[in-house]
Amino acid sequence: MADQLDTLLDEGRRFPPSAEFAANAVATQALYDAAARDRLAFWEEQARALDWMTPWTRVLDWKAPHARWFDGGQLNVAANCLDRHLSGPRRNKAAIIWEGEPGDRRVYTYWALAREVGRAANALKRLGVRKGDRVAIYLPMVPEAAIAMLACARIGAVHSVVFGGFSAESLRDRIQDATATVLITADGGYRRGQVLPLKRIADEAVADCPSIRHVVVVRRGHGGEGDESFAEMTEGRDHWWHRLLDKESPHCPPEAMDSEDLLFILYTSGTTGKPKGIVHSSGGYLTQAAATTKYVFDLREEDIFWCTADVGWVTGHSYVVYGPLANGATVLMYEGAPDWPERDRFWKLIARHGVTVFYTAPTAIRAFMKWGTSHPAAHDLSTLRLLGSVGEPINPEAWMWYHEHVGRGNCPIVDTWWQTETGGIMITALPGVTTTKPGSATTPFPGISVELVDTTGKPMAKGGGFLTLTEPWPGMLRTIYGDDARYQETYWSRFPGRYFAGDGAKVDDDGYWWLLGRVDDVLNVAGHRIGTMEVESALVDHPSVAEAAVVGKAHELKGQAIAAFVTVKEGVKPSAELRDDLREHVARKIGAIAKPDDILFSADLPKTRSGKIMRRLLKDIAEGRALGDTTTLADPNVVARLKEMYEDKE
Ligand code: WTA
Repeated sequence: MADQLDTLLDEGRRFPPSAEFAANAVATQALYDAAARDRLAFWEEQARALDWMTPWTRVLDWKAPHARWFDGGQLNVAANCLDRHLSGPRRNKAAIIWEGEPGDRRVYTYWALAREVGRAANALKRLGVRKGDRVAIYLPMVPEAAIAMLACARIGAVHSVVFGGFSAESLRDRIQDATATVLITADGGYRRGQVLPLKRIADEAVADCPSIRHVVVVRRGHGGEGDESFAEMTEGRDHWWHRLLDKESPHCPPEAMDSEDLLFILYTSGTTGKPKGIVHSSGGYLTQAAATTKYVFDLREEDIFWCTADVGWVTGHSYVVYGPLANGATVLMYEGAPDWPERDRFWKLIARHGVTVFYTAPTAIRAFMKWGTSHPAAHDLSTLRLLGSVGEPINPEAWMWYHEHVGRGNCPIVDTWWQTETGGIMITALPGVTTTKPGSATTPFPGISVELVDTTGKPMAKGGGFLTLTEPWPGMLRTIYGDDARYQETYWSRFPGRYFAGDGAKVDDDGYWWLLGRVDDVLNVAGHRIGTMEVESALVDHPSVAEAAVVGKAHELKGQAIAAFVTVKEGVKPSAELRDDLREHVARKIGAIAKPDDILFSADLPKTRSGKIMRRLLKDIAEGRALGDTTTLADPNVVARLKEMYEDKE
């Protein structure tokens, strides 16, 4: 963290908004002024941009740490994303332009999307789904993912989207925790030319999920109707999506939902082995998702907005589906990998569809840098006018590359800090208003109260410390599903009275925020949150493993890579085969994203005299640094031996 701080301190480049951009920008300084004058009035103003069936009686009811926003108000999130656009010129505007990895394309106008959502909503009702029931969604990036989410929202069912890269066990745990009654999946999805057999994985998961009554299968993967190779259908339980929808009317009245009714649960990794079901409600969440989309992405009627995130992550929820559609925008959705069939696929997509606003992750930008400038240079990217970054700190060099080679020097960059828990963007530049600095997320969004504190919780005006939030915000998580005690403990106990985000940060003399990464046991691997404990549990679940310690090590492309230190059981011989087997085991338990890059077998792990594994020292070893203080160790020689072994490893 110290090295990082020094490099950031040296960053002196400034990018003020161009006069041209500022003159037409959607956001203005007046937003900051209004929020500073009256935070709650500012948020009420944003909420008024939505359609409410019943007005709220109270803007905020705050009994720390539980918030009720726009209390007493009623709305329907799907109606806000669809119905209200149907009466004017947006009716026949593209809502979703979709491209599959093999190159197939589909366009849904707002009108057509509304009809599909209506049919899907009626189909769910026919399967017995009622308001408040949980529906699990395990799909590739196909339009049906957005349709399924909106169909749930329409009838008041709570969706839990599970990223298609997660394993059967991860899917099973999430379905069980939420006691979902219906699972929506696909026969397959394309990734780098291969078909990922989602239905087969889903079948394995559902075998242990007694709550699931129906499985709905989108036909995507392969072949024609008769090709059952990717999806064996279980009579009575499984239904083809297209057959169900064919039978339904496109008209389904939207359920009137209380502002605080649940919209979705999204599982994310924490510091224990068990993922947390982050709970989001309706009115406040949509207010923040919609307002941030409008102002941060300078949204205009004619934009083609492309957020590259998968709907399995919160970024896909807020900035592929809810935020843009609530604003009546056109979104581009792409199914596959950035390097398929060639490393210029993203630039091809931007040129072909005329993307104007592009929002992606630093890990992708670093991969593009490595692949070389010839790829973006070979395509017409002249429609781009604004770029965004999310998911991890963006290093100044990646920022500059993005600026020069993608933005061609004339697109503002918004680096947006937020979390699954915050629901929407919290710290960001506003294009046309904020002067940006490469590597800094700049300043809090209007109406968001962020404060830096030291280890004792004392506020600091500047310097390095921990990022905390001091006031409730509309999109905040309401609790952890089924575990409110864990909610209070995880977020509100480290610094009493404050929400602790788990991130380290620095604030400079201008009040700009520089994010420094997680300070807890959560890793950020290629923008994906993975708990060290989750990976450790997966490793010790293997019959050959006695003990495992997992740390993140700096990685050029992924930001962080996973390094595992493993002690095997008596009689087991460490080998290259065992190493491969362990990596596969982790992929089976969690998903391929959690496979350790390095696995080092060791007879001992460095422990304190009280038996605690010293992960800090393991991180020093994995990152090839001089060792920190080893005096508290039970056996200081263990670390020296490990360090030698790590340096010798092939
Ligand atoms: C990190 C993704 C630096 C941070 C929206 C946070 C960032 C975690 C940024 C949340 C950013 C996200 N700069 N770090 N612009 N955006 N992070 O829940 O550590 O998947 O706590 O939400 O990602 O990850 P999550």
